[in-house]
Amino acid sequence: MRIGFASDHAGYVLKERLKAWAVASGHGVVDFGTDGTPSVDYADYAHKAAERMNEWDRLVVVCGSGLGISMAANRHAHLRCALVTSPEHARLARQHNDANAIAFGQRLTDPLQAEYYLKIFLETPFEGGRHENRVKKIDVTLCQ
Ligand code: RB5
Repeated sequence: MRIGFASDHAGYVLKERLKAWAVASGHGVVDFGTDGTPSVDYADYAHKAAERMNEWDRLVVVCGSGLGISMAANRHAHLRCALVTSPEHARLARQHNDANAIAFGQRLTDPLQAEYYLKIFLETPFEGGRHENRVKKIDVTLCQ
């Protein structure tokens, strides 16, 4: 899989760790920044990754809490970004919500657990069926 990565300064360390894990696991990676710990605005990086969605199959976004960068990512109609804090979130985000992006809060997530959640997220397929129409209705422009 081609996995895109984006973070602000407060998510930079976890982004780099998850990127290394992805490479070691045989995935392709595309890094949309940021590229260090000087202070930046998370929305700039979420938008950059969202606008270049033709370059990735799944997207990982990280900020301090995971909140701001997931909110920014979810302003894009084609993006369904799940803030994940448990293995169940990682599994359900794929099975029921067909999420194509996963968000983490570096300040609130153990890095080893984040790797585990990302592994589940990447390996779990969308269930389809009754969830198909529900997922379509998430985007207001598709359910009028
Ligand atoms: C940066 O200090 C922090 O506010 C940001 O990374 C994120 O947690 C916002 O939602």
